[in-house]
Amino acid sequence: MGSLGPALPPGTASPSFRRRSPRPYRTYAFGGIDCSSMQPRLVLIAKVLLVGLLTGLCMSALRQSTSFAGSSKFATRERGVTHVLVTGGAGFIGSHAVLRLLEDGYRVTIVDNLSRGNMGAVEQLQALFPEPGRLQFLFGDLGDSKRVTEIFAQNAIDAVMHFAAIAYVSESMADPLRYYHNITFNTLTVLEAMRAYGVTKLIYSSTCATYGEPETMPITETTPQIPINPYGKAKKMSEDLIKDFAKTADFSVTILRYFNVIGSDPKGRLGEAPRPELRKHARISGACFDAAMGIIPGIQVRGYDYKTSDGTCIRDYIHVTDLVDAHVKALEKIEKGKVSIYNVGTGKGSSVKEFVEACKFATGVNVTVTMLDRRPGDYAEVYSDPSKIKRELSWTAQHIDLKASLSDAWRWRKRHPDGFSSAMI
Ligand SMILES: NC(=O)c1ccc[n+]([C@@H]2O[C@H](COP(=O)([O-])OP(=O)(O)OC[C@H]3O[C@@H](n4cnc5c(N)ncnc54)[C@H](O)[C@@H]3O)[C@@H](O)[C@H]2O)c1
Repeated sequence: MGSLGPALPPGTASPSFRRRSPRPYRTYAFGGIDCSSMQPRLVLIAKVLLVGLLTGLCMSALRQSTSFAGSSKFATRERGVTHVLVTGGAGFIGSHAVLRLLEDGYRVTIVDNLSRGNMGAVEQLQALFPEPGRLQFLFGDLGDSKRVTEIFAQNAIDAVMHFAAIAYVSESMADPLRYYHNITFNTLTVLEAMRAYGVTKLIYSSTCATYGEPETMPITETTPQIPINPYGKAKKMSEDLIKDFAKTADFSVTILRYFNVIGSDPKGRLGEAPRPELRKHARISGACFDAAMGIIPGIQVRGYDYKTSDGTCIRDYIHVTDLVDAHVKALEKIEKGKVSIYNVGTGKGSSVKEFVEACKFATGVNVTVTMLDRRPGDYAEVYSDPSKIKRELSWTAQHIDLKASLSDAWRWRKRHPDGFSSAMI
């Protein structure tokens, strides 16, 4: 993995030091007697100052990136190479997207504050694509506009895939301001940096939570967006920001509204590893696997009295590999100056009960299931109509068998019981 030294790469600092240093030294060696006692001290002070300056520059470079190798490749455009900035690339979906982009020959810069993602995922990608100029990781918080501007200033970015976000409905109900800040405010920061540096292509991660609880199913892209929790509202506000900005600028955007994302790389190179402290917000597959591993006593199904076929919620589960395929197709086919919006789902709803059965099948464990009251902010039935993305981007979900999708995810999880930090052979 190569990465860009942000302020002044080490190689650029030392020659100017060498060019400047001979003059005072020559004065000392051949100059007047009056200065003979001053000059060695001056030279020494100059050397100390320059060494200090160089050390400072190196420290600053180290703070902002994980390695120096190949930095110039990220800072310059190369014919035939598209450089994609992936925000949140250390996270579950972002890391899978990076894998696919690298496989397809893109140059990738990940920016992530590692608040929820895993450096282990980045290291795995780095190990798979070690060539200079393929992948760099830059630590950065998108709430820090100075840092975001710096990243755009120092890298020749062609397009942005903006995944970075905190993304738990229940957490958003408990701490809404955090969600508006992390999702809406940070999207504004990214847009401002894109405008400032002339980056005109964006693929934005939105969600079916922006629709709320529509009366008719399936959900199409024209279904009214009436979100019912701060997570969905913050994402809708981000969409609105993007759409308004696009009206005023030469800006090409594809907004992808994902349904429920599951699975992991079928070749077992990456997986989903949420932090243990997020377990209380866990999505259903994570909870199911934790129960199958004996980390938690069982899974709790929230709501058994919804107006659905078996009383549990209906969701549309989309495999992460299919989802990242939609991103790449969206980028390939992005239309200049246009905002395109697509649902990304299978078009088929499965109940939580069906999901749990598939999970039992995948893990081979008869996990204990407890039925509880409804969770605030949840909706009964949500599934997509994916015909627009099929028609316009020639995309359809390939991994539509829940048991097979969960088996992919379980294989990785079983081999990595403690996430990316552990791998069992
Ligand atoms: N997982 C799903 O089912 C689902 C469904 C619909 C939409 N989405 C959207 O997909 C995107 C990715 O979700 P995910 O499941 O991969 O989540 P994730 O938590 O695994 O990944 C999110 C990444 O963003 C990073 N991040 C968060 N805040 C940041 C900040 N301020 N600055 C820099 N990095 C930051 C985290 O460290 C993490 O690596 C999110 O935008 C989410 O809203 C996810």
